Amino acid sequence: MLKGLIFDLDGVLTDSARFHLTAWNNLAKDLGITLSQADLDNLRGISRMDSLEMILKIGGKENDYSPEEKAALAAKKNEKFLESVETMTPADILPGIPQLLADAKQDGLKLVIASASKNAPKILTKLGIIGEFDGIVDPASLHKGKPDPEIYEKAQALIGLEQDEVISFEDAAAGVAAIKAAGQFAVGIGDRKLLHEADYIVSDTSQLHLADIVTAFKESKE
Ligand code: G6P
Ligand code: MG
Repeated sequence: MLKGLIFDLDGVLTDSARFHLTAWNNLAKDLGITLSQADLDNLRGISRMDSLEMILKIGGKENDYSPEEKAALAAKKNEKFLESVETMTPADILPGIPQLLADAKQDGLKLVIASASKNAPKILTKLGIIGEFDGIVDPASLHKGKPDPEIYEKAQALIGLEQDEVISFEDAAAGVAAIKAAGQFAVGIGDRKLLHEADYIVSDTSQLHLADIVTAFKESKE
């Protein structure tokens, strides 16, 4: 029986994924590294330091910086990202999300955040919805990033549920892979080709209707 919904944040509840990608793209340019659209898509859902390592590798510069210099580069990217976060308001919640959360509450479902972002509480506060959630996985507690299932397993444990009692939402291929590795039902939001591993796919959040998703979830358990 369905008892909870688990949400990625960036690119699912709000469009902050584009702020991350712009900040990374600008940092890469400063370092003389050109990122392709595929590179940017692969960065979705990846933790801060893993993202930096991926970018340096793309540019063949993974051995050019000391750990201290890498930490400074990641801090610089985060500063730029936070400038964008400062501009966020409740109007930045993506279409379809307020109704989805309201319907879930009406049905008595628990709601949890499974974001790799250390900025998740700040962003949820700016959006005015932090109080809607029963838990937020602390990314500092994770040993491995998405596509490892750890974050989705922790999210499920946070609300005391089993893998077949939750539906998880993602915009990143690495995130969908993490959900599936955790044995949960995955809703992918975005490009069908990138998210083909998901159990249910919509092109954007305005197409998220809880009743339809629950029907697909139930059919998958038959
Ligand atoms: C999310 C985003 C990624 C970001 C990661 C870490 O997973 O999708 O783009 O790199 O969080 O975010 P942070 O805010 O901690 O740098
Ligand atoms: Mg995301």
